[in-house]
Parts: sequence; C-alpha cells; structure tokens
Amino acid sequence: MATSLLPLLAATSMLACDPALPERDSLVRDIEQWPAPTHHRSLDPALEARVDALLAEMSVEDRVGQLIQADIGSIEPEDLREYRLGAILNGGNSAPNDDVRASPAQWLALADQFFAATNSREDGRPVIPLLWGTDAVHGHNNVVGATVFPHNIGLGAARAPTLIRRIGEATALEIVVTGQEWSFAPTLAVARDDRWGRTYESYSEDPSIVAAYAEAMIEGLQGALSDPNRLRRGRVLATAKHFIGDGGTHEGIDQGNAIATERELALIHGAGYPRALAAGAEVIMASFSSWQGCKVHGSRYLLTSVLKERMGFDGFLVGDWNAHAQVAGCSPQECPHAIMAGIDMFMAPNSWRTLYHSTLRNVRDGEITEERLEDAVRRILRVKLRAGLFEAPKPSARPFAGASDLLGHPAHRAIAREAVQRSAVLLKNNQQVLPISAGSHVLVLGPGADDMQQQTGGWTLSWQGTGNTREHFPNGQTIWEGIADAVRAAGGTAQLSRDGTYEGQPDVAIVVYGEAPYAEFQGDRRHVAFVDHHQIHTNLTNLKASGIPTVSVFLSGRPLWVNPHLNASDAFVAAWLPGTEGGAIAELLLAPVAGARTLDFTGRLSFSWPATPWQTTVNRGDTPYEPLFAFGYGLSLDDAVTVPPLDEADGARIEQLDAGREFLVRGTAVAPWYLELYDASGSTTAIGHRVQSPDDALRLRRRDHLAQEDAVQLTWTGRDGGAIARLEGTTLDLRRAINGDMALKLVLDTPQVPADATLAIRCAQTCGKALALSALLPPVRDGWTTLLVPLRCFDLADEQAQEVRSPLEIRAGGAMDLGLHEVALAPIEGVLECPPMSIAANTTGQR
Ligand code: BGC
Ligand code: BGC
Repeated sequence: MATSLLPLLAATSMLACDPALPERDSLVRDIEQWPAPTHHRSLDPALEARVDALLAEMSVEDRVGQLIQADIGSIEPEDLREYRLGAILNGGNSAPNDDVRASPAQWLALADQFFAATNSREDGRPVIPLLWGTDAVHGHNNVVGATVFPHNIGLGAARAPTLIRRIGEATALEIVVTGQEWSFAPTLAVARDDRWGRTYESYSEDPSIVAAYAEAMIEGLQGALSDPNRLRRGRVLATAKHFIGDGGTHEGIDQGNAIATERELALIHGAGYPRALAAGAEVIMASFSSWQGCKVHGSRYLLTSVLKERMGFDGFLVGDWNAHAQVAGCSPQECPHAIMAGIDMFMAPNSWRTLYHSTLRNVRDGEITEERLEDAVRRILRVKLRAGLFEAPKPSARPFAGASDLLGHPAHRAIAREAVQRSAVLLKNNQQVLPISAGSHVLVLGPGADDMQQQTGGWTLSWQGTGNTREHFPNGQTIWEGIADAVRAAGGTAQLSRDGTYEGQPDVAIVVYGEAPYAEFQGDRRHVAFVDHHQIHTNLTNLKASGIPTVSVFLSGRPLWVNPHLNASDAFVAAWLPGTEGGAIAELLLAPVAGARTLDFTGRLSFSWPATPWQTTVNRGDTPYEPLFAFGYGLSLDDAVTVPPLDEADGARIEQLDAGREFLVRGTAVAPWYLELYDASGSTTAIGHRVQSPDDALRLRRRDHLAQEDAVQLTWTGRDGGAIARLEGTTLDLRRAINGDMALKLVLDTPQVPADATLAIRCAQTCGKALALSALLPPVRDGWTTLLVPLRCFDLADEQAQEVRSPLEIRAGGAMDLGLHEVALAPIEGVLECPPMSIAANTTGQR
C-alpha cells in the first residue's frame, strides 16, 4: 500500500488544500493585494444586541439548523417542524409540486406553508424566520408570466448602471409577488475564457463594468443603504456570486481551476466585490471552482482572511449547490472543513438531513469550533434581522404579495424592451442595409425567429431553459411577433418562413439563429465557433444569390466565431439572449414611421469578438490583442463602415475537431452529434430532459453520475421488437483512429443486459460487425463501468471507416436500462484483446 503511487498523490494534493492548515496557506499569500474597504459599514448596536439575545436562547441544534439550506425538491414544509433549518431554495428544476410551470398562486401558497411550519414552535424555543432563495438571474425567471430580462452579457453591452438598477427593482417586486425574499444574483464573474458555459451570466470580460453593475444591481434588488425602505416593501436580499475566480477557470471549465495570480484574482475576478460590499451586499455565494488547485469552499484564506477580515464582509457566506462535497475530505453529507474555512450556510439541496446530523456531530466533536459556529449563526441572524424578517407576517400578507398583475407588468416589460434595444450590438451594416425602409416586404426566417425558448436561454422556467414553448410565456413577444407588428405599422408586409421557402421577392430577409439554450457545465465548449446545425449559411447564401439583402440577428450566450455567416450577411446584429421582450429588437431594424421615436444602436461589445474559433481567451488589455471586433466596438446606423470579407478557412477545422474525439460528454451529445432514438414507428431526436421514441420502445431521461444530471438514462421497454439508440450528426473518418489503435470509450451503467443487445458502428453502407454487449461487459458489475472497445474489433474495411455515420449504435430487443455518461475516442495503453474487452468496474468513471 505504502509503495503504491496513487494514495501518495492523493495525500499530497490534500495537504496543499488542507483547510486545517491556514497558516501554510497564508505563507505564500499576500493579503496586501486585496483592496481594503474604503468606508466601513458599522454594526448597529441595537441589532447586535438582539442577535446576542437570540444566540443566548438557541440550543446547539437550533444553531446548526441555521447553517443548512435545503432544496424544495427534497424537503416538505412539515420537515421543518423537526429540522429547524435556516433556509430553503428552489434550484433550477425545482418548483412547487415539482411543476416548473406552477402558477404564481402555488408558489405563494408554498411559501406560506414553509412559513407556517417554521413559525409554529410548541417547545418554547426561539422562532428564527426562514429564508427562501431563488435564482432570479434575469428577472424572476423561474415563474411563468414573469418579465425575463436579457441575460447579463447583453446588459453589459448597454453600459447603463441606472438601467441595471431599474431591472433589479422590477425583479425584486416580481419576486415578492410569489413569496420569496432572496435572489441568487447578481453574478459578478468576469468571464475570461468564452468556452465557459456561464459566459452569458457575466456582464463583461472587463472588471470595471462588472464593478459598476454590481453596485447597481444590489441596490436595485435590496434598495440603497440610505433608503429607509431597504429590504422592505418589494425589496429582496441579493447575492453576489460566485466568490471567487468563477470566470477565470483554466480553459473555461465550469467548476474548474483558476490558475490566476493573487493579483489577477483580486483585481480582475474580485473587481465586483468591493463595490458590492459598499452597496450593502448581505450575502455572498462561494464559487464551485478552485484557485491554484484548491477548492474555494475549503479556503480559509480566501473566505475568511480576505473576504471577511480584509474586505470587511459582515453578512453571511452561502455555499453553492453541494459544492462543499468537492473539498478534499468532504462529501455532500459531511464537511466541517467548509464551515471552518468560512462558509456560514451550506447549500445542501438533497443532502440536508444527513448533513445536519453530521454537522451537529462535528460541533460536538470539536471539528467545528463553538466560536466558528457562533460566528456563522450570528451572521445569518444579522442578515435576517436587517431584512426585517422577524417582524414580517406570512409571505402572502406582505406588501405586493399575490399581486400577480405585477408579473410581466407593462412597466416592467417596458424596462425589458429598453434593455433589449440597448444591449443589441450592430457588428456589420454594409451599404447601410439597416434601417429597413418603411413599406418594405420583409421575409423572416431562422430557428430563433419565433422561439421564446431560444431567445430566453438557460435559467428560464427550467434549469437548462429547455422544454418551454410559447404558451409558457403569457407576457412577452418573440422576435418575429415584434417584426410583424413593426413592419405592418410602417405600412409594409412581413412573412415568416419556417422552412426557408418564400413567395414573391422580399425586399430584405431577416434571419434569426444562434445557440440553443444551456446552463452551467452543459454549455462548456471546446472552441468558440458557432456550429450551424440548421444550414443557416446555405439559407443566407441562397438569399444573397437571389439578390435579397440579408440581416442576421444572432442569439448567443457568448461572442462566437461566425465569419462565414458574417460574410453572407449584409447586416449582422449580436442580440445575445434578449429574454421575453426579444420582439423589441424590431424597432431598431426598421426605419420609424413618420413621427415615431428614432432609435439607434447604442450597444457596444462588453466582450471581445474572436477572430478564430481558437481565440478563446481574447480580452481587453491583452498583449497582443487581436480580436475580430474589439471590446467597445459597435456601429450606429449612421456609421458608413464596410466590414470586408473575412477569413472562413477555420470552418473546416472545427468540424474535424468536433467530430474527432468526444461524442457525448457529461450526458450531453457534443455538437454536431446528437442522440437519435429509433423504434418500429420511426425516430425522435433526443433534445431536452425526457424524450421517447415514437412507439415508446425507448425512453431517455437525464440522471446523475458524478454531478447533477451529467448522464442520460436510456430505457428499452421491450415493446414492439426493440429499439435503437444512435449517435448521429456528421460523417466521420475513423481510419487514422483505427490505425492508431484507438478505442471507443463508454462510461456506462447497465445492471442487466439482454442477450440480444449489441454495440456497433454504422457506416454509409454495410459496416463491420456488431458486438454483443454482454460479452463486452465485466460479468460482475457494481455501478458505473468504463468500457474500452478497440475500434479494430468492429472489423471495418478501410472504405467503411472513411465514412462512418454513427460512432455508436446500441440495439436491443428485450428490456434494458442503460446509463450513459460519456462516449469518446480514447487511446489504449497496453494491449487489449478483442473479446473480452472490458476493464474492471470502477466507481469514479474516470481513467
Ligand atoms: C439544479 C440547479 C443546480 C444544478 C447544479 C440542478 O438540478 O436545478 O439549480 O444549479 O442542479 O448541478
Ligand atoms: C449554481 C448557482 C445557483 C445554484 C442554485 C448552482 O449550481 O452554480 O449559481 O445559484 O446552483 O440553483
């Protein structure tokens, strides 16, 4: 054992991050790099005296309860009678009755139930009010009917802190309608590598914009420190997140590792925090990510020495979604180290019960000191008192509660429309195609034209922003709807084409397309090129060939290399993820009718636009700095600028890269690949959370392996002679991979395999041989298995390998359950015979 390399490595890496060794941590650190507060907010002695009095009455169980936040998907109001927790939340897919389309009244009723359970104590112990936190990250986006504002990346382009403040005020008002008192916003990430799936949650790559907006959004949500109604009457608690380095992880990997210097961490990634604190930030959320290899959740230096001591933060630090589990030596169910490092409240969505018991034990054992426990509870009580929660009646009796007309209120929609117009950036307007003259015949096409889901993006009703249709947005306007209104008002005609065909010669075509919704790690990419799944480029070039001027409206969560489309467009607008009022963009595209307000493009890039698919970290201030469009770029309608033809050569390389190695990562097919589910009646493309083949012979839903929803579960029901799951999307040349003795790597979980289940590769024509799945798997399996199947075992002829249509086809007649986390090409180390070709089961799924 002692001579084996593995445990040794694990031991050293734990040592470097051991939260029990803060001195060692601080030896190499320089706290002077961090800004000390310019003005201290002094504690209110009367309020602190109330905290003392409460603390004196609280038992150790009462105290530990305050440290824990549970998700409403895993806790019932009744549980709070036994477990006196400090807070609850609704994660991205959690909602009343497990229905992300629950009515505002159902949200409010549930808030009342949680309140009632918390506030009724028969044991004479003090009642500590509960907090309910929600991700209102672009409006109160989890609730049907709410105003959904542009995602932060668009707001950054508006350069308008007062607009941000108004968005914060409107959002807070909509939140209290449904009974919550706390938002997990604003995100203060300064995203520096646009491969990151959360780039759109970042206002800018530039720290100064993030700093200005931090203050504006916090004041909007909470009220300014000078406001007597602060945190009262239609105001909610804000959360500055995710402290720290979330936007600086290596290669833009979500929850990854920031290798920034301490100076970069403080001045770039930390830029928003001093202003957030000055604006009265009460809650800060710790980042899932690491700094220099150590998880922030375990860093006493960052959380306590820097944030609380040096920067003077006196509110409470909440953890992220089970993020404590990633600290060395921790699990979702136990993590004294995170509390000792400085986390005051665990976000323990489904782990809350066990975590409560283990934390209680940690306190009794002294692993969590009395002093640290008391400080954490003190901070939570302080914030609850400041928010007036001890005096607040039940949620439905608070000001504005239940006023559902405030959700999507015309005044809020007007703010959203203004935000959409101010965030759009005009990248190209050759021959001044825009504005489109009144009276024109306008053709509108593209998958994003009439699609609320695509214009709202992730964190909208559902976590990934998928599964939504037009009906789920009673308040709002699609881009097509906005254009149709505006064109008709100007005396013209508009036609929406779903398939690219049209009648009559349009004067101009507006094509709306971009990225499909995603959130968090599901949005991580390996390059920053737009991948065109819908042949938009062909559409654009055909239109141009027919002499029709083309206007692209591009919907995306990040700047993307899109040169071929830029070339094929006369005008090109980066509209980001505009939200429910996407239709407001129309007023920018069309010349106003006589007498109407003249609008112009004022949006300017808050992120540098990449010149190649590989320019993933191109940021203002870099040397050399060679973006396609620099930070701050953006045309006005009057600018007679001609964007010359741009280099398109990189396009071919992206396809190779995408198609080259990984087909399905963390349960999600890597574009251009997708999973297609076949049965006797046809096939269904697997998009979204739950899908099934036409006859229900094959079902797919998302499930967990190493993280939340990072795998898919495929269920062959055994109906109608079986079903096939196949990865499709492009044509792949596997000749080199076969010569190089690569393997097909699968990370899967199959408790039972019917004898007729096979694994195969598909070519244009006949193709090699199918392998029996049962022969590939180890006979004894316990959970997830990593399978390496040498490509040569499929026996592909050279001309077959040259044109592979599907790198993975699984067929079964009988019933079978199969979890799939990863499908990729992987090297084989050593020798692997054809059968048996499996390696031993392992629980981590990593090799
Ligand atoms: C939740 C999200 C959360 C994510 C974390 C999802 O199931 O709905 O709120 O951020 O898990 O992995
Ligand atoms: C995200 C946070 C979010 C939390 C609750 C996490 O996965 O990182 O930003 O606030 O889930 O949904």
